[in-house]
Amino acid sequence: MEFFAHIVLLAFVAFITISAVPGSSLFSWHPTCMALATLLWTESLISFRRPSPSWRVNVHWGVNATAISLAIFGFLSIYRNKEENGKPHFTTYHGIAGISTLGLLLIQTMGGNFANFSVFIGKYVRAVRPSVIKWGHRVSGLLSLTAVYTTLILGLCSFWFTAIVSSTVVWTGVVLSLLYPYLYAIFNADFSQRKGSSKEKAKN
Ligand code: HEM
Repeated sequence: MEFFAHIVLLAFVAFITISAVPGSSLFSWHPTCMALATLLWTESLISFRRPSPSWRVNVHWGVNATAISLAIFGFLSIYRNKEENGKPHFTTYHGIAGISTLGLLLIQTMGGNFANFSVFIGKYVRAVRPSVIKWGHRVSGLLSLTAVYTTLILGLCSFWFTAIVSSTVVWTGVVLSLLYPYLYAIFNADFSQRKGSSKEKAKN
């Protein structure tokens, strides 16, 4: 049920935002922006199944551009916060997974331009088939979303989150419910090259 995926994500973002109180500290922007970016990345994958090719490409592009901007802002806020508190960087599993995931997402976002202009690229670089570029972008997109949820769950193991959600039962409930939108997006992702118009199919 797609509706349930939206509800879980919205409830998670609302819970994190209320708990973090954005603007109350430099740190507060980190969980807020990262939770919102996760919602947008998941929604951009779910909405990519819509029938109109121009609609889905424009929405996918816009939503992903917003998500990566939020993630960069969220990363800068935690980085600066640590600098100000004289703390070392990338010392936890979450921090290491986070910086690797961000690197992957930046490559993935740039790769989106290759996928968008794959037909044009294919005209000039004959060895590269547009369908292969698009397929590569789809596979790495699923890997990127997996990396995002892994990092997110590691973030929920932090002192900050476990102080807010101290009950193991509730914590487990939060993590398990987050798996729903992730699995829904992954298993319902449009992996085919067929959903576009016949013109688009011909280009592939
Ligand atoms: C709501 C979810 C999240 C929470 C509650 C959270 C919480 C935290 C906390 C408490 C820290 C400081 C301690 C540490 O270094 O582990 C941190 C650091 C970090 N987080 Fe998150 N985080 C979340 C989501 C994310 C996501 C989705 C990413 C990346 C895609 C990310 C990337 C990072 C990075 C790279 C650091 C290390 C920064 C540094 O060491 O300078 N976080 N996070």
